[in-house]
Amino acid sequence: MPEKVRKQEAASVGPIAAVRDWVGELLTHYGSQEYWERRYQKEPCAFEWYQGYAGLKPLLNQYIAPDANILQIGVGTSSLQEAMVNDSYKRILNVDCSETVVEHMKERHRGLPSLVYKVLDCRDMSCFASGTFDAIIDKGTLDAIVCGENSVADAKQMLLECSRTLRSDGVYMLITYGDPRSRLCHVDNAELGWDVIMYYLEKKESPDNLNNDGHGDSKRHMYGPYSSLNGDDVNFLCGLQDVHFAYVCKRK
Ligand SMILES: C[S@@+](CC[C@H](N)C(=O)[O-])C[C@H]1O[C@@H](n2cnc3c(N)ncnc32)[C@H](O)[C@@H]1O
Repeated sequence: MPEKVRKQEAASVGPIAAVRDWVGELLTHYGSQEYWERRYQKEPCAFEWYQGYAGLKPLLNQYIAPDANILQIGVGTSSLQEAMVNDSYKRILNVDCSETVVEHMKERHRGLPSLVYKVLDCRDMSCFASGTFDAIIDKGTLDAIVCGENSVADAKQMLLECSRTLRSDGVYMLITYGDPRSRLCHVDNAELGWDVIMYYLEKKESPDNLNNDGHGDSKRHMYGPYSSLNGDDVNFLCGLQDVHFAYVCKRK
């Protein structure tokens, strides 16, 4: 929304309502593929949402074997997959709906054959057979989709595609800012048939403890697992400040 119009709106409807509408409009953009394409055309430089490999390594190593067939959905300009293959992972297929970002990432990682990039809308992954992947990593992509106009239907379609393309013992790992109130309604759905366990991660990757390549003592950075299946009271997770959440989902 242009600045002038926003100021006029603030004057007529009150500053709090105007800011709320403006934030709402911005969030809706995150759910639109055109928004991401325009954004990457303007600035395809490296940007890491939430956590990098240093913060996620303990979780990734616990649930995903080095030789796993991994799909990362909505890769953006993340460096996570580069750090993973430089550590121990053998191959990662990365998809995004934006042609611009996929071309940019192909160029950036031209010398890394373990990383493959493909333009794909993760709500329709019919190009992959059922049971193709051992693991699907989603860092911020469900978050983008739930901002869209058809958020519930789109999120469901995307998650059903993830469930279908995972092997029966495969894992869908979601890294998000969303607490259980706003994310369990999507991932803990009978049609998906997943058991969901949760972790929370401090926002700061504790530079005292962690090197950029993820080596070091990261024990104090990650807390969990928590699951209502184990009788844990997971409500306390909803009140936490300055954390990200990880949802690890596996077929029951
Ligand atoms: C919040 S960004 C996260 C980027 C990256 N995973 C990271 O952690 O830095 C969300 C990404 O999802 C992509 N995206 C949004 N909707 C998508 C869809 N339906 N299919 C594939 N990618 C999508 C966007 O283009 C964007 O790159």
